[in-house]
Amino acid sequence: MIFRQLFEPVSSTYTYLLGCEATRQALLIDPVMPTWERDLTVLNELGLKLVYTLDTHIHADHITSALQLKREAGSRIVYPATSRVACADLNVEDGASVAIGSIEVKALHTPGHTDDHFSYLADERVFTGDALLIDGCGRTDFQNGDAATLFRSVREKLFSLDSDTLVYPAHDYQQRRVSTIAQERGRNPRLGEAKSFEQFLQIMSELKLPYPKFIDYAVPGNRQCGVCPPDLSEDLQRYCRKMEESPQG
Ligand SMILES: [Fe+2]
Repeated sequence: MIFRQLFEPVSSTYTYLLGCEATRQALLIDPVMPTWERDLTVLNELGLKLVYTLDTHIHADHITSALQLKREAGSRIVYPATSRVACADLNVEDGASVAIGSIEVKALHTPGHTDDHFSYLADERVFTGDALLIDGCGRTDFQNGDAATLFRSVREKLFSLDSDTLVYPAHDYQQRRVSTIAQERGRNPRLGEAKSFEQFLQIMSELKLPYPKFIDYAVPGNRQCGVCPPDLSEDLQRYCRKMEESPQG
């Protein structure tokens, strides 16, 4: 499998490229608006055709480039069925698979950060979105999030994967790139096996995080598979504007 982990610095999002060596078909998980041209450049350099974009959930901190990539590259937009977005070409249910050539990506419903959230499993890699981050997890106080539900998704669904499965999150704010199921089981300070259900609920209830500054634009934009609002203030335009210098990797 051809694999690239691509970084988008405005929202510290990782976009993942998976490609089939034989058929030269590819998909992107969680592509982001400011870096859609960079992503197409990487695909072109690798001689890959973009067949699908997959979003893990309706994001609140960035706008997906799924629709833009569909226009530019003819890719099909995949969303969790639970997101209930009319613009998706394919809505994946829990346990369903999306295939490109010899690569099969299995969809796992992992709600709790949001109620629509999915993770995607491809062989020895799991793309955990905002459900499970390296030494952390996504917040649970918006978009029908629920800490008790997230605990069950991570502990019962993700932690039941093979210990050596590589964990690739949607974000990292400290330039960490990858973990494993064994590492998160062992030392995740919120969800690791040393923490009880009650301790997790208490941690999440005491986070006191600020209101997400882009959520009121991102959620409606992402419900349309990636539409930038016309009325963005100057400080928010970077969420939609092309990166001046395309980050590599
Ligand atoms: Fe999120």
